[in-house]
Amino acid sequence: MKTQAVSDAVARLYDTYPFPPEPFLDQAPPGYNWRWYWPTVHSFCTGALPKGGAVRVLDAGCGTGVSTEYISHLNPEAEVLGIDLSAKAIATATERCRRSGATNVGFRQLSIYDVDQVEGEFQWINCVGVIHHMPDPLKGLQALATKLAPGGFIHLFVYADIGRREISLIQRAIALVQGSQRGDYRDGVQVGRQIFATLPEGNRLKQRERDRWALENHRDECFADMYVHPQEIDYTLDSLFDLVDASGLEFVGFSNPQVWQLDRLLGADPALLERAQQLSQLDQYRLVELLDPEITHFEWFLARPPYPRVSWENDSDLLAAIPTRNPCMSGWPSQNIFDHNYQITALDQTEFEVLKACNGQRPTLEGERDQDSAADQPMATVADLLTQCGVSLEKVRQLHQRQLILLQGPQ
Ligand SMILES: C[S@@+](CC[C@H](N)C(=O)[O-])C[C@H]1O[C@@H](n2cnc3c(N)ncnc32)[C@H](O)[C@@H]1O
Repeated sequence: MKTQAVSDAVARLYDTYPFPPEPFLDQAPPGYNWRWYWPTVHSFCTGALPKGGAVRVLDAGCGTGVSTEYISHLNPEAEVLGIDLSAKAIATATERCRRSGATNVGFRQLSIYDVDQVEGEFQWINCVGVIHHMPDPLKGLQALATKLAPGGFIHLFVYADIGRREISLIQRAIALVQGSQRGDYRDGVQVGRQIFATLPEGNRLKQRERDRWALENHRDECFADMYVHPQEIDYTLDSLFDLVDASGLEFVGFSNPQVWQLDRLLGADPALLERAQQLSQLDQYRLVELLDPEITHFEWFLARPPYPRVSWENDSDLLAAIPTRNPCMSGWPSQNIFDHNYQITALDQTEFEVLKACNGQRPTLEGERDQDSAADQPMATVADLLTQCGVSLEKVRQLHQRQLILLQGPQ
């Protein structure tokens, strides 16, 4: 199929089954996702908090606007634009944001290939679950790259080949049965559901669907997105880095770095782990890909240089830094919290005291208010924390590494 025909087929899928099929909330969405909050995105990519929140954000392939709505509420100073191929998705996203009172957001029905029609540049682009549905993902990524301001970041998410083997087999089976009816997405969903209902118990594809995906796939929109898509390119680590290299942007890091730590797979044998850690960073990633076939996607940040990188290795820089508790956590104030990755985390007494003594800047996250907010008081520095809490600089570095605190350099 030619590029335009593929894009038309993709738009038809999402006009039939707009994605994601989340209900309207009629209020600012609850909770957080640190990948949708500019200070944590900036901090992850550079090591330090940004100077301000008045950035332009593009949600490219925004679908029904769930992420766009979050981004606009979590970043009230930002100016947010959502674009998508599908008219139905854009209409849904517009209505979603109107009903929840997001005023710093706009939408356009526009292909990423045509993003040059949008004026100006963006400091931050969110593009999740989209370019792998484009006939030429590199061309799409390069189009986005032209819109990224120097020092800006783009967050991407694409499917991983190995973890989606079973999905790919079912996709091909549905297409085969559909024959000339391929492109009739409702028929595709029906055929797919019939196949799963009919396959014998113990069949690996049936089992995989039941164990891993059925919870979300009871909605036809999700089932269609997974199994009857007219266009999908799955990536291996090598093809991913070919894409990154050709994009002209710089790889910052995976946005789920814990997945790419070898010690979670080889930690039980320190000698083997140490040997594997002698490999280049790319080969360590390759090893994780090979040893963990559960990885179903890649998510990562790219940057347009130049951008600052603060390591906080220098003691005097760290002592002068202003620490803020990462607001992307749940259950605070308590020694048992859900951290930014929604992992339950136990804080020891010192860590708890440090987080309490941190400054109270925070986004207006729905459902919580920082009782201990010190917003009206002069900003405490890391040096102040050392005096107040008896914490070591090493511990402060660890808290920063674990993204429990965020650091701002002297202005
Ligand atoms: C799986 S959905 C992801 C939606 C949203 N980003 C999310 O994560 O919830 C993919 C979206 O990408 C859009 N899309 C696909 N190709 C596109 C293109 N060339 N330009 C703009 N949007 C595109 C589709 O219409 C669809 O809404």
